[in-house]
Amino acid sequence: MNNCNFKVGKKLQKTNDGGIYRILNHDYPFKNIAVKLMDPKENENYRKEIDITGLATEIEIAPKVFDSCVINFEGNEYYGLVFEYIDNAKSINKIFQENRINLKNTEYIKQLLDVMYNNGIIHNDLHGENIIFNSKYRPYIIDFGMSDLHNDVIPFDTRDYNIELSGPNNELIILNVENNTLTKINYNFKTYKTTQEVIQLTIKKFFKID
Ligand SMILES: Nc1ncnc2c1ncn2[C@@H]1O[C@H](COP(=O)(O)OP(=O)(O)O)[C@@H](O)[C@H]1O
Ligand SMILES: [Mg+2]
Repeated sequence: MNNCNFKVGKKLQKTNDGGIYRILNHDYPFKNIAVKLMDPKENENYRKEIDITGLATEIEIAPKVFDSCVINFEGNEYYGLVFEYIDNAKSINKIFQENRINLKNTEYIKQLLDVMYNNGIIHNDLHGENIIFNSKYRPYIIDFGMSDLHNDVIPFDTRDYNIELSGPNNELIILNVENNTLTKINYNFKTYKTTQEVIQLTIKKFFKID
């Protein structure tokens, strides 16, 4: 891939540090591919001050677990992460709000997490916008900018299977894909304390299952 020819096309999506851009004229096996990179055009300070640790971490870790690769261009100055672009991607938040989460996709997400844990990777940012579904409802875990890479397989007792979803009223709901439970977190705004009034509901009760 490092040797392939390509052109960076239009910006598809803004990210915290830059954007996701379409890639044109490529010979990569996926039909739709994109690159995530710092945005040199919009960030005047890009060369001096922008914090590139997130993208650098992602560039190191993401290719270990999903089909992606790192490119660099413009005389080694800009790096980017190339991956499949999911057309009409829907976040798991959206799927959750549509009541379309089912056991099949939670099991699949658990498998994806286990692939990461078996490769020594902890994601650290498992929230509802970092899991996206393609039009066939296949989930993808994305955004490895906050992840950690360990030398060893992550032990079973420290694996995290909790995903922070936002409900229809922006409330925080934890989806555990190991036990298939939903936990609603209630904030007590009067005291500014987080009380964990916890309602454990099985996915079966809460959602219609295919
Ligand atoms: N491969 C992809 N296909 C389609 N949309 C994507 C892809 N990667 C990211 N996105 C969209 O862009 C958003 C931001 O990407 P992300 O990598 O999470 O950036 P950030 O570091 O800013 O959170 C995602 O929430 C998702 O909606
Ligand atoms: Mg993100």
